[in-house]
Amino acid sequence: MRVVFVGCGYPPEMRQYTRGLAEVGAEVWGVGDGPAPDDIKRYLTDYLVVPRILDEEDVIARVLAWTRGREIDKLLGNWEPVQLLAARLRERMGLPGMSVDTVLGFRDKQLMKERVAAAGLRVPRSRRAMTVKDVWEAAEAIGYPMIVKPIAGAGSADTYRCDSATDLDRVLAAIRHVHEVSCEEFIEGEEYTFDTVSIGGRPAYFNVAQYLPKPIVARSEEWISPVIITVRDLAQPKLSGGIELGRRVLDALGMGDGFTHMEWFLTPKGEAVFGEIGCRPGGANLVDQMNYTCDIDLFREWARAVCYHRFEASTERKWHACIVFKRAKGEGRVTRIEGLDEFMRKYGKWVVEDKLSRPGTPRRNWKQSLISDGWMMLRHPDWDEARRMTAAASTGITLYAGG
Ligand SMILES: Nc1ncnc2c1ncn2[C@@H]1O[C@H](COP(=O)(O)OP(=O)(O)OP(=O)(O)O)[C@@H](O)[C@H]1O
Ligand SMILES: [Mg+2]
Repeated sequence: MRVVFVGCGYPPEMRQYTRGLAEVGAEVWGVGDGPAPDDIKRYLTDYLVVPRILDEEDVIARVLAWTRGREIDKLLGNWEPVQLLAARLRERMGLPGMSVDTVLGFRDKQLMKERVAAAGLRVPRSRRAMTVKDVWEAAEAIGYPMIVKPIAGAGSADTYRCDSATDLDRVLAAIRHVHEVSCEEFIEGEEYTFDTVSIGGRPAYFNVAQYLPKPIVARSEEWISPVIITVRDLAQPKLSGGIELGRRVLDALGMGDGFTHMEWFLTPKGEAVFGEIGCRPGGANLVDQMNYTCDIDLFREWARAVCYHRFEASTERKWHACIVFKRAKGEGRVTRIEGLDEFMRKYGKWVVEDKLSRPGTPRRNWKQSLISDGWMMLRHPDWDEARRMTAAASTGITLYAGG
């Protein structure tokens, strides 16, 4: 099994997929735009350095030249910005896997909603807009509150809720640099994920996690410690609509093999509404969280699923895995952490990772990365206890920065 893996070293979690591929016996032919990271060299059969991984035409030409005359079985990429590039390469090389058109359904937020809606599933009413005039017309048709967001967005960047024409005026000024937006009906309610490792569009593994609070809120207030919790009991009636929606979305979009990460809303009336989906793993350590939920290694099982169409890990859910992201108060470098000792005395036995930024570490941009100034990963078999513990980490642990 010879696999070309585009973006094998960046972002850092891609190295885990590289390891997974090697561990299931694949030869990994990595592609990246820097030197091969030391920690994955032993998993790589060969490595191609390209000047700019996001320069599609250039990468395509270089990969075609590099692989000419060799038998390649698969071409994969798990980082969102390289998904279309990978699909284009597959088509050029005559390799199996999802086509450019299929991947587009997972990248273009308007197209994905149209395809999902065409399958009779509930999506927010929406319109594509390229000009200011289009946006005002969309507002007329959709009404307020309305969401305005980039067609190919990530990390909630440039995503706004508008409650009035005055709001919309302000938002239009702020998003002038965005080429194309999706205007959507604002959906009230809770927000969840539906994540899968799929084989031929069927989930061999699936997961639901809840965002607390919703990403759009977490991203607008710096004092918030965003929390994501994987839900242990997926059989509870409250989630059945979202899980069914997720399965049908995979069918509607023609999912093949690999990870998917969907976001959906549960309205106060109990209706599940589609949010968005990617044919790639969720970011911000969500795969680690899923691993902690079941005590498995999805980096390796993903590799087994995409290479050999088998999934061999247990899907029994033992824990609610919780991640709590922290943002320091102040600017510059982290100077101290308060409340951590007390938290550890009380909850230490449930802590699986403490990756809070230590004194001396420069602050990260919390708007650009959910990771912010580090995180605590916790797990507990009971939902209420898990919630209590995450609340204690949110309010009881404080990082300070200064100087
Ligand atoms: N129609 C909607 N109704 C209510 N909230 C919405 C809607 N669309 C987006 N949001 C909010 O904005 C957030 C970001 O939107 P979306 O997930 O589409 O963008 P994104 O930039 O791809 O996000 P990310 O990469 O963080 O998952 C959502 O998680 C949700 O909280
Ligand atoms: Mg999203």
